[in-house]
Amino acid sequence: MTAVEARPAQTEPAGSPAGLRFPPGFVWGAATAAYQIEGAHDEDGRAPSIWDTFSRTPGKVFDGHTGDVADDHYHRYVDDVALMRRLGLGSYRFSVAWPRITPGVTPDSLGPVNRAGLGFYDRLVDELLAAGITPAATLYHWDLPQALEDGGGWTDRRTAERFGEYAAVVAQHLGDRLSTVITLNEPWCSAYLGYASGVHAPGRTEPAAALAAVHHLNLAHGLAALAVREHAPDLPVAITLNLAWVRPEDPDDPADLDAARRVDGLQNRVFLDPVLHGRYPADVLADTAHVTDWSFVRDGDLAVVHQPLDALGLNYYSPTVVRAWDGVGVRVEADGHGSSASSPWVGSGDLEFPEPVGPLTAMGWPVDADGLHQLLVRLHTEAPGVPLHVTENGAAYPDVLTADGAVHDDDRIGYVDGHLRAVHRAITDGADVRGYYLWSLLDNFEWGYGFSKRFGIVHVDYDTQTRTPKDSALWYAEVIRRNGLPGA
Ligand code: FCB
Repeated sequence: MTAVEARPAQTEPAGSPAGLRFPPGFVWGAATAAYQIEGAHDEDGRAPSIWDTFSRTPGKVFDGHTGDVADDHYHRYVDDVALMRRLGLGSYRFSVAWPRITPGVTPDSLGPVNRAGLGFYDRLVDELLAAGITPAATLYHWDLPQALEDGGGWTDRRTAERFGEYAAVVAQHLGDRLSTVITLNEPWCSAYLGYASGVHAPGRTEPAAALAAVHHLNLAHGLAALAVREHAPDLPVAITLNLAWVRPEDPDDPADLDAARRVDGLQNRVFLDPVLHGRYPADVLADTAHVTDWSFVRDGDLAVVHQPLDALGLNYYSPTVVRAWDGVGVRVEADGHGSSASSPWVGSGDLEFPEPVGPLTAMGWPVDADGLHQLLVRLHTEAPGVPLHVTENGAAYPDVLTADGAVHDDDRIGYVDGHLRAVHRAITDGADVRGYYLWSLLDNFEWGYGFSKRFGIVHVDYDTQTRTPKDSALWYAEVIRRNGLPGA
C-alpha cells in the first residue's frame, strides 16, 4: 500500500475502448493468508495453531482437510512470486504465522524469537521487493498459537498483551521493508465464529466469551499499533474489517429496522467505534447486557484501542439482509444462556436472515456490488482523512480445468468487474480508495470448507501443486496493465 495522493477517478467517454480508468498510482494487489497456503506445518520450528487443532478435530472441516500441505507455498514462494510478477501485481497481501515467529509463546511470556521461522518471511519480502511488488503483511489471520488458546485464547487479555509483543518482533525485523502492516484480519470472525458459533477455530460456543474476545482483539490491535510505531515509525498501520452492508428486509418495518441496527452494532460498530472514536456503542452494550457486563474492559483500554490509522482495510463479499423473527421457521436466537450455542449473533435478540436471492456464488453468497460502494462511502464519512483499501474481494465458483488446459471462469471475471466498478463509483463519490486486493491469488484452504471451494485466480492442482492461471488472472493482468476496466 504505497501512499499516493488521492486523485479523482476518470470516466472516459461512453464507448471509449479504454473504459474506466482508476487514479494514477492505484494499487492493484492480491491477497492470501498463511494457514490457507503455506503448508510446512511442522517445519523450521513452527508450533501448532488453533487451526491445526481444529482441522484435526473430526467433523469440523470438510472431509477432514487440513492446512498441513495446502499450496506448499512455504517451499514454492519463489515460483509464486514469479507468477505474481508475470501478472503485473503491484502489491501482495500475505499474513505472518505467529506460531512460526515465537513458537514457545505462553500466556505469560512471548518466548524466544525463532530465526528460522522469521527467515521465511525475510526471504519472501526480499523476493517480492526484487520483483517490484510491495509487501503488505497481516499480523493475524486467525492462526493463534495453540498454547495461547490453552490459556484462554482471545477471552484472556494476556493474549492481547503477547500479540503486542509479537507485533514488535515483526516490526523490528521486517518493518523497514513492508509497505504496510495490518494488525488483524476480520476480528468479527475470530471472535464470533471462533467463540460463539464455533464454526471456526477454536470452535467454542460460549456467547459471553465471544464478547470478551471482541474486546481483547480490539485491545490487541491498539497494542500492536503502538508497538509497530515504536519499532518502525515509518511503517503505515492498518486494520482490516469485514463490515456488513446491512439492510432491513422491509425498510418501512420498525422491527426490521431495529434488527438491522442490532446487526450493524454487533458486526460493524463494535469494532469501528472503539478503533475510530475510543468508545463502545451504547446500544450494543445495552443489547448485550444480559450476556455480559463488559467488566473485561479496564480503565485506559479504550485509549489504547483508539490509535491513529494510516489506512483502513475493508473486506467485502456479499450483502446482509435481515428481518425481525416472524415467529415461523428458523430464527437466530442468541440469548446468552447457552440455548443459542450455534449463533454468532450474541445478544442480538430474535432476528432472521431470509434465504438469499439472485445470483449466488459457490459459497451460496449473493452477488451485489452495491454494498461495496456503500461501505466505502460510509467509511469515507466515518473516518475522514483515512485512506481506504479493499483488502479482500473475490468469489468462489465451481471451476473446471478443461481439456484445453484452461479455466474459463467468466463468472468470476463478471463478479470482479462489477465490484471494481463499484469501487470506481465510490472514488468518483469522493471516497479515498487507494487500492484493491483480489481474494485470492491461489486456490487454497477455505477454512471449514477445506479445499472444496476455490477462490483463486490461479488454479491449484492439489496432487501435483501445478499452478494454472485462470482466465480471470489473465483478465486481471490486463486490468492492471490499463489501470482500469475495459469499456462497459
Ligand atoms: C474472508 C477471509 C479469507 C477467506 C475469504 C473467502 O473472510 O478473510 O481468509 O476465507 O473470506
